[in-house]
This record gives sequence, structure tokens and C-alpha cells, in this order.
Amino acid sequence: MSTTKGLEGVVATTSSVSSIIDGVLTYYGYNIDDLADHASFEEVVFLLWNHRLPNKEELKKFQQELADAAVVSNEVLDQMKTYPVDKVHPMAALRTAVSNLALFDEAADEMSEEANREKALKLQAQLPTIVTAFSRIRQGKEPVAPRNDLSFAANFLYMLNGEVPDEISVKAFNKALVLHADHELNASTFTARVCVATLSDMYSGITAAIGALKGPLHGGANERVMKMLTEIGEVEKVEDYIKDALSKKVKIMGFGHRVYKNGDPRAKHLKEMSRQLTSITGETKWYDMSVKIDEIVSNEKGLLPNVDFYSASVYHSLGIEHDLFTPIFAVSRVSGWIAHILEQYANNRLIRPRAEYIGPDRQEWIPLEDR
Ligand code: ACO
Repeated sequence: MSTTKGLEGVVATTSSVSSIIDGVLTYYGYNIDDLADHASFEEVVFLLWNHRLPNKEELKKFQQELADAAVVSNEVLDQMKTYPVDKVHPMAALRTAVSNLALFDEAADEMSEEANREKALKLQAQLPTIVTAFSRIRQGKEPVAPRNDLSFAANFLYMLNGEVPDEISVKAFNKALVLHADHELNASTFTARVCVATLSDMYSGITAAIGALKGPLHGGANERVMKMLTEIGEVEKVEDYIKDALSKKVKIMGFGHRVYKNGDPRAKHLKEMSRQLTSITGETKWYDMSVKIDEIVSNEKGLLPNVDFYSASVYHSLGIEHDLFTPIFAVSRVSGWIAHILEQYANNRLIRPRAEYIGPDRQEWIPLEDR
């Protein structure tokens, strides 16, 4: 038996949802660059779940269905109020709340295609309501109910702040959601597929995926990028901070990637958004510091920024609390998790690899009193 640490380069399944070929990312064959420039997030979700772009009527209907499904039950919201809100990370709250959704869905374990599509809609629509409600509850405010006349991106910002957002913020947030929607067999998507390949339910798959996304080597990196930028504080301090960190073999969050060795195609879009948004807010130092870090890390280590690096200054510029960055990743990526879960159910086989045993050889049993 031969092993590959971290399953690097191992092709574990077939999939039509998204591809990374020669450094180009596509969702069902559409280049991420085109989608980032032109698509609404709702169009992308439709594409991921139906394997084609919607026409005008289909899109309108789907947008309405998503908006109508966004209301989270009072049972789940009331339980959120009992969480230790000032201590708990929003990703942990999201993981628990999504698991809770299943308890109040009588069809949670129904496995028909129709029932799964229904759950997909609820999960996609309700994650934003949960994330924004948690943010408000911990500030001692009441959650803001979703509006069914706003786009997915606008509704998130509306529920977060209680005000209808401006067009620039909505456009930027929509683009960030599009860029995060799917990414082939990343760690959280693989987790979701492993979970549902036992024929467990969709809520279990999404709860497991949220747990995997939370880690700093995956989605959790975006919050840590902002922590680093805040610690550095000003452009003049970047060089010493980064060189010192690299000399101590500290990983610089938001750099490196298991698959992309010549750059993450999503990063350039987020970089440009960071430039534009920081110039609007007047806090250009976040962009300037990021560019300087980018230069030093690529010169010193040959590592390039991934999707998490410039998204930090983008979300900060939109006035979003730093520990909501990873939950926002989940709000978008749940679309990809669902697409992969539906694909897994449609052609399922239990995912059960082997481990090469490296423990001790046969041992003689020692009775308790002799140990
Ligand atoms: N900063 C400094 N050094 C790094 C970094 C980094 N961000 N990333 C990789 N390296 C170094 C490693 O220390 C290692 O060096 P060595 O050979 O001298 O030991 C070498 O590059 C290879 O790195 P690995 O960790 O083996 O690469 P792997 O493919 O396992 O990991 C990962 C990829 C997890 C993304 C890694 O680059 C990393 O930890 N980056 C920082 C966290 C991060 O940004 N995660 C988000 C990834 S994108 C996403 O999930 C949404």
C-alpha cells in the first residue's frame, strides 16, 4: 500500500460541478472570470444545482424562491439567544444552528430528489439569516427579518445592518459570493461528500462541512489575515513583521495553495475590489499593506495569495466584523457543498479508503494488574 500525505494529487471522485485545469477555475465549464464580472450569485447557485444558466423567468422565480425561504423559525432563533454569545465564535454558532435546523424540519431524513431540493433551498436561503441574526443577537439587538424584494447579496447586508445597502457594497459583496461558491474537491466539500456518501441527510453533510471550513488552513484563514493586518497596523511595519514571521517558519495566512502553484485565479478580482473599496472608505492602508505583504511573500517564498488574502480587506471595507468573514465564506460555499451533495446522492458509493498501518506489530495481552 502506498500513501500520499494529505491526499495530495489523489483523484478521489469524478465531478461535473467545477474544475481546476491548468490554473483555470470553471463552474460547470464557465470561467470564473466571466462569472465574477457578469453573474449574480443567484445565477451561479442555479448553475451549480442545475448544470446550466437560468433564463430570465427561471432566474426571477429562483430569486423569489430563495428570498421566500430565508425566514428562520423562531425555535431556531430563540435557541441562538441561549448560546454563550459573547464567548462563542460565529462559525461554532453557525455549525450548531444549522444542525438545529434539521431538528425542526420534519422532512430532514427524506431522501427523494424533491425533498433534497427543498432542503437545499432552505439551507442556502437560511444560512445568511442565521449568520446575521447571530451578529445582532450578540450585540443585544433583535435579528432583522429577511426581505423578499432584495437580492441575495443585498439581503445579507440588510439583515446585518438593518439598512438597505448602497449599490457599490451590494455589487462587491455579490462578486465575493460568486468567487467563493465552489472549488472542486476542497477540504470542506470532500467532508460533505464523505458524510452524505453514508446516505446521511443533507443537514448532516452541511454541518460537517461547516466544521471543516472553520479551520485556519481552509476558510478560517480570511479572519486571520485581518488579524495580521491589524497587528501590523501600518505599511512601514510590514517588511520587519513578515520577514520575522518567515524566519520563524510562521505560516502567512492567505498564501499558498494545495492545487494552484502559479496563483489563485480568484485573488486578482479580490485584489482589485480591495483597491477600489479601500479608496472609497479612505482607509487605503489595508490595501497598501496587503500589496506589500504580497510582494515580500512572493519574493521570499515564491508563494502567491489565495482567495482568503484580499477578501479580508474587502470585507473589512464593507464594515463587516472580522469574525464573520469565515461564516460569509460558508454562506456562499454552501451552494457548492449542496451541488456536490446532490451529485454524490445521484451516483453514490460509500467513501471508505484504507490506512497504511504503521503501529506496533502483534502485542501480547497484559492483564490490568500486571501493567
Ligand atoms: N506561509 C509560509 N509558508 C508556507 C505557507 C504560508 N502561507 N504555505 C505553505 N508554506 C510552506 C510550508 O511551510 C512548506 O514549507 P517547507 O517545505 O519548508 O516545510 C511548503 O510551503 C509547502 O507547504 P504545505 O503546508 O506542505 O502545503 P500544503 O499544500 O499542505 O498546504 C495550505 C496548503 C494549507 C493552503 C498552506 O499553503 C497554508 O497553510 N496556507 C496558509 C493558510 C491559508 O491561507 N489557507 C487558505 C487556503 S485557501 C482555502 O482553503 C480557501
